Amino acid sequence: MEYMTTAQIREAYLDYFEKKGNKRMPSSSLVPDDPSLLLTSAGMVQFKPYFLQQKQLEEPYVGTTTVQKCVRTNDIDIIGTTGRHLSFFEMLGNFSFGKYFKHEMCAMALDFSVNVLGLPMEKLYFTVFEDDDETIQIWKDLGVADDHISRLGEDDNFWRAGPTGPCGPCSELYYDQGPAFGCGSPDCAPGCDCDRFLEYWNCVFTQFDGQEDGSFKELPKKNIDTGMGLERIAAIMQGVQSNYETDVLRSLVAVGERLAGVSYGDDAATDLALRIIADHSRAVTFMIADGILPSNEGRGYVLRRLLRRAIMKAHLIGIEGLFLNEYVDEIVRLMGDVYPEIVENRELERKLIMAEEERFGATLDHGQAYLEEALRGLEGDMLPGQTAFVLHDTYGFPVEITSEIAAERGIVVDMDAFDAEMAAQRERARSAGAKDAEAAWSTYGGVYADLLRELGPTAFVGYEQASAEATITALVKDGERVEALEDGDEGVIVLDRTVFYAEMGGEVGDTGIIEDGEAAADVLDTTAPEKGLHAHKVRVRGGAVRAGDAVVAVLDGMRRASVARNHTGTHILHAALRRVLGDHVRQAGSYVGPERLRFDFTHFEALTPEQIAEVERVANNEIMRAIPISTYETTLDEARAEGVTALFGEKYDADVRVVAAGDFSSELCGGCHVSNTAEIGFLKITGESSVGANTRRIEAVTSFGALAHVNRIEAELRETAAELKVPLFDVSERTASNLKSFKELQQAAKRGKEAVSDDGINELLSLVQMAPAGYPVIIAKAPAVESGGQRHLWDVVRARMEQPGAIVIAGEKDGKAMLMAAGTDEAVAAGFDAAQLIKAMGPAIGGGGGGKAAMAQAGGKNPAGIDDALAIARDMVL
Ligand code: ALA
Repeated sequence: MEYMTTAQIREAYLDYFEKKGNKRMPSSSLVPDDPSLLLTSAGMVQFKPYFLQQKQLEEPYVGTTTVQKCVRTNDIDIIGTTGRHLSFFEMLGNFSFGKYFKHEMCAMALDFSVNVLGLPMEKLYFTVFEDDDETIQIWKDLGVADDHISRLGEDDNFWRAGPTGPCGPCSELYYDQGPAFGCGSPDCAPGCDCDRFLEYWNCVFTQFDGQEDGSFKELPKKNIDTGMGLERIAAIMQGVQSNYETDVLRSLVAVGERLAGVSYGDDAATDLALRIIADHSRAVTFMIADGILPSNEGRGYVLRRLLRRAIMKAHLIGIEGLFLNEYVDEIVRLMGDVYPEIVENRELERKLIMAEEERFGATLDHGQAYLEEALRGLEGDMLPGQTAFVLHDTYGFPVEITSEIAAERGIVVDMDAFDAEMAAQRERARSAGAKDAEAAWSTYGGVYADLLRELGPTAFVGYEQASAEATITALVKDGERVEALEDGDEGVIVLDRTVFYAEMGGEVGDTGIIEDGEAAADVLDTTAPEKGLHAHKVRVRGGAVRAGDAVVAVLDGMRRASVARNHTGTHILHAALRRVLGDHVRQAGSYVGPERLRFDFTHFEALTPEQIAEVERVANNEIMRAIPISTYETTLDEARAEGVTALFGEKYDADVRVVAAGDFSSELCGGCHVSNTAEIGFLKITGESSVGANTRRIEAVTSFGALAHVNRIEAELRETAAELKVPLFDVSERTASNLKSFKELQQAAKRGKEAVSDDGINELLSLVQMAPAGYPVIIAKAPAVESGGQRHLWDVVRARMEQPGAIVIAGEKDGKAMLMAAGTDEAVAAGFDAAQLIKAMGPAIGGGGGGKAAMAQAGGKNPAGIDDALAIARDMVL
């Protein structure tokens, strides 16, 4: 047996089975097309429809062969503690759908093991499902010694992907790594938990379809599903003790060694952390590349948990700050040629991971301290659910991680109490923002699946035509199929062919009219309750429509044209965002309606005003370049090879439609578009906001919508300018200066209010006299005023005098006398002179001061002279 790299083994396997007549097919996404599974966990997942005979493999293939990326997290807590468990791994496999079966498979498995990999026969062991005598005989006939074959029960040798679906008994191939790897128990044998007998290949004889009730239905044909763990066989072929020492994973362990400044093999706890980070970093990189975003539920939660676990382990061995992107780079380098999606999404992987690291890193220390404290103060061996909830809610600790840390101290988390806290939180969230149930269509029930089976898909001719002749093939009312819809009825019309686009991919459904000569049905909306079946939601008027009627279907063309402009605008906006912000930008959702469009995308911070302006500029530049839009059909593989943008995490058929605007934008899309970017006219961004931690939203309008938007802004501005009595473009300057004055006045009023009571002011105001020069004046003893409060007092008094006037006050504060005289411009113009007054009054209080005609102040040592001073002022003014 000779050393083989992971890449060599992968290729040798696929090549071997390809030569045996199996079709080599790509790995499917980690997001399965299968609601019963959270993540793709085996090579057979993409072939379920073939096992169930819902899909056929084309001639002349006898089966398929793949290397499948898989994620399994059911044993996450033992990952790293053994050499053979991984959360992410590659599974080599070959699959037969009724063509070859046990005999052929066993012969090939042995042939490949011995003759291609060069594994010595005496090191191979075989397990068989307990009552499968046939397979025992097959192995014997192939020359396997009796004592290398053993029977195991359902736990080991009956394989199923989940509770239901294709499954069957299996036979597993083991490699004996030698007693040095073993547990030493006399019973140690294949199936033992220790590392001696390494299971490297599972051959499943897929004969059954597991039912909901636990029973098994015989599948129409006998099938083969096999899985060989690539990392495990690589460890064997490379003569190393664990998966983590094989070429690919060892390179990832080395990244950690470098970052932490440690050597693998020196310390058990450090090694464990290095293994966990190496494993988890691969899982998260591949998951993100397949469209999974970190979240608090479903597969997003699995991703978040793996990420946070890796971050915590890194923290433990002294790796600080943002580090996982270094792993991403190495993973892309090591595996990018086999999995181009991780290369394509590299920016997204790096940025998303960094954003999560930042978020979690910020609370990690505090969370750990909180948990430590709780553990220290604990009586008994159960951590309260409330503590785990706070860790989850405030510090972002997945409860599994809290459990794991607690378990290291022999403590368990009170999960019932934790679940109750979570339920209470969900309840709070629900009542805070009760969601409207999308009840409209659900009331129509399952009638559409039957219609699709019976009638086939609706022919869609609405890309090119705005109207078409058609025949009513079915009518539905209140979820039931009916023969006619009467005048005034609301219901659904199904046609053999239609021009009405059914809501999909963010684009709204079309509206318009369906006429049959006498009656007309207003189409209020069009949806596809089953893929390919257009359901026209209508209200009938002027008679009845009947199944079989010949009709004319006519779009609301103006509305459709607006939708098309917004849809092409969305593509242009998407491409512009990628140009301005980077390739991590991926579409995460959209709404394309007649009035506006909305585009959600992956990005981790708010856009600056400059970025928004730049996106708008780039988009409008492409609009003004008047680029013809081309649409064409191709295969998904071709489109991918051409670099067409596929929507993040979206599933596509093998045949796809591409919508391209020159080389600026090309996307897989089934929607309605304009024929030239110039038709969009003008794209205007109207809003930018956050929709969750990793997603931003842009709202925009185009063409007439943009015109209306701009006109509205202009009208508002004109109105404001008129109010302010300034030219249009002085509005902001004038508003700013007005606002400044207003704030100053507000502050002055506030200070004045603080300085003197309302009663004091009212009293002063009651003392107003008319000066012979024609202005009102108050000459009085000052009320109790905070020091420095006189000026404010004047501000307040001035504001409340009926006519612009003046004030002269004298008061005592802390044994000293003070004087103030102040006048409005009008009073000054009429002869009031504060400076002159103060100069004359000063000697009476044994002091002096000064100022200007509008405001002067003085202080003195002699409060007894206050009355004299005021008398002097009266003489001068009145
Ligand atoms: N589907 C089988 C497994 O995953 C081959 O082990």
